[in-house]
Amino acid sequence: MEVVIVPDAATAGELIADTIAALLRHTPDALLGVATGSTPLPVYQALAAKVRASALDVFRARICQLDEYVGLPAGHPESYRSVVLREVVAPLGIPESSFLGPDGNAPDIPAACAAYDSALAEAGGVDLQLLGIGTDGHIGFNEPCSSLASRTRIKTLTPQTRQDNARFFDTPDDVPHHVITQGIGTILDARHLVLLATGESKAEAAALAIEGPLSSLVPASALQLHPHATVILDDPAASKLKLSDYFRTTYASKPPWQGL
Ligand code: PGA
Repeated sequence: MEVVIVPDAATAGELIADTIAALLRHTPDALLGVATGSTPLPVYQALAAKVRASALDVFRARICQLDEYVGLPAGHPESYRSVVLREVVAPLGIPESSFLGPDGNAPDIPAACAAYDSALAEAGGVDLQLLGIGTDGHIGFNEPCSSLASRTRIKTLTPQTRQDNARFFDTPDDVPHHVITQGIGTILDARHLVLLATGESKAEAAALAIEGPLSSLVPASALQLHPHATVILDDPAASKLKLSDYFRTTYASKPPWQGL
């Protein structure tokens, strides 16, 4: 696992956007797994700025969703399909037909989950999966004690996650209890995992994921199993790492050609 500590979220956004741009130059039809929530927004803003400056051609890129609420009405502004269309697909000018996501309103949710895993595999697998981390250590919506081998399935949100996400809804009671999420095994199938954590509220979860034992209690610790996992933290999110000096020195002396 590579750990990169940067001063702020904007710098992290630029760094990840540069990595995605390099991937798209090499593989123009790369399948990019995107995350929702507040954390990845600087990445999408940096990518959109590159597109506006004609520094990046994303027309052949494909986008896929990490997770989705179950039962929100179609077109609800906080469904993750709506969020990804609004924050990523539309600003980048990617055709909606290049966007894959699970159906949170399917009459048969287990079948929709299996269909989504199959669709990702048929699309050739995810080239780069962007991840956030929950304050409880979740990735996607894989809450603590999710199987490290799990595939896309329905999960029940913890009260802590529902409270964390209440800011997106009119009232805390409006946050759905159930979600579809790529499983941890599904996430680990991606060729490159990039987890971004910003802010003091993520410091403890990030430290446990990076330096703690591999444990389903901290689902993000599953990144320790992946051969190409990058964790990018701003200074506040890195504040509880024991090895932060080592991570800073390592990155500062990295040959520039190496990329992330
Ligand atoms: P946030 O969510 O970026 O809104 O903090 C992260 C997550 O829950 O994965």
